[in-house]
Amino acid sequence: MSLPTEFVELLRCPVEGQALSLNGDQLSAASTHYPLVGGIPWLLPHPRNSLLDWGAKLNHFQQVLLQEVSELDLQLQSAKGAVHDRIECLLAAKRDFLLEITTLLEPLTRTQVAAEGAYNALRDRAPTTQNLLSYESNIYRDWQWGEEENRLCHDFVRDFMPEDVGRFAVLGAGACRLALDLHQSCAPERTVATDINPLFLFAVNKLLRGESFFLTEFPLHPKLIDYVAIKHQMAGLSERLDNFHLCFADAAKPAFAKGAFNTVLTPWLIDIQPHAFGVFLRQLSQYLPVGGHWVNFGSLVFNQRRESLCYSVEEVVELAAEAGFEVEMMTQTELPYLKSPYSAGYRMENVWAWRATKREDIAAVVDVEVLPEWVLDTHKPIPLSQSLQTLGVQHQFLARLYAALDGKHSIHSLAEHFARADGSDAAELEHLLVTYFQRQQ
Ligand SMILES: C[S@@+](CC[C@H](N)C(=O)[O-])C[C@H]1O[C@@H](n2cnc3c(N)ncnc32)[C@H](O)[C@@H]1O
Repeated sequence: MSLPTEFVELLRCPVEGQALSLNGDQLSAASTHYPLVGGIPWLLPHPRNSLLDWGAKLNHFQQVLLQEVSELDLQLQSAKGAVHDRIECLLAAKRDFLLEITTLLEPLTRTQVAAEGAYNALRDRAPTTQNLLSYESNIYRDWQWGEEENRLCHDFVRDFMPEDVGRFAVLGAGACRLALDLHQSCAPERTVATDINPLFLFAVNKLLRGESFFLTEFPLHPKLIDYVAIKHQMAGLSERLDNFHLCFADAAKPAFAKGAFNTVLTPWLIDIQPHAFGVFLRQLSQYLPVGGHWVNFGSLVFNQRRESLCYSVEEVVELAAEAGFEVEMMTQTELPYLKSPYSAGYRMENVWAWRATKREDIAAVVDVEVLPEWVLDTHKPIPLSQSLQTLGVQHQFLARLYAALDGKHSIHSLAEHFARADGSDAAELEHLLVTYFQRQQ
């Protein structure tokens, strides 16, 4: 599989920062080899771990879908009339979808990997919130029904792009439509679109190669009975796109030569990526030389556990300045989000775009991981945090609760039993138990 030299020259080993060279179907630094998966460089620092991780996510998807299929099969047996027809259609579509996704992900399952040592095995795991089908609707929006939305997004971001885009990186590019549209309208010297989710990059890779394939959409709230499942023909691009490349990489673990790009775009990424924004900014800085541009687009709905990390736009600008970025232009607008013609509803999102110039260099964070150090290194002491203590109390109670189940107790009698033993309020406990068992149904 050959990659253009100019693209390979941008790539660096994400651990030691060494240059990579292409040897057959892998990229190699002194001690590490990075596979080309389906022809796309897989530049996660611990490539085997992340391949295994996404393999496990595929497996999980297959299990969940098989379960759905068997439940639908069961429901079909007692369904009548239009309900029968709808379930029958859904069942057939789910079976197709299982096959479509499995086929699309074939390059992942074909790549041979072996597990690393226990200490490293957990590094490079994608956050548990990022699954194979996270943001799946983006594929249909980008390549099927989202013409208006895609145009609005492109036109909004286009105004923030520098006149001379130079070498252009799009981090967390997803189904890549925005990256592609900007590649065509801004004529950068070269564009590299990255993501951690193989589903997107494999799908886009097929389209770029001019290959067509089927993919079934299941609208969240179908408007009509006919919209419970939409089998889309994803049409391969008719024209070859020059100087546009795909790369599996974690935006927070730069896999490129320091300052390799003149312009970096983070579309709908900064608030959903798992690291504290200050940490992410330090990593982002590594992509650009002083004078380079960072363009951001998307919502600011930081999804961090700690309130102090869920920043407002004012705080974002302040943190950017601390990381050496001067925000020079910024606008806010409202845009439709995932306005599918098949779904009963869609969101209007308050989105931001800005362009910042990198004014000074700032050192990268050496080891950014999603999991805490004491999980990565199983010899480290477990800190006794408030949340772990609360979980401990909950689990101790649950252990007692399940031990007490004998096939005779009712919720009421259990509540009285535990209230007597613990000196708590029986009525309140009964209410809690009802809520708990309700959730288990
Ligand atoms: C909200 S979606 C936005 C997709 C695309 N940028 C768009 O505007 O349609 C977020 C994307 O970021 C990707 N992503 C999440 N964490 C990432 C990371 N650490 N590095 C690179 N991509 C990441 C997800 O797989 C997903 O494609």
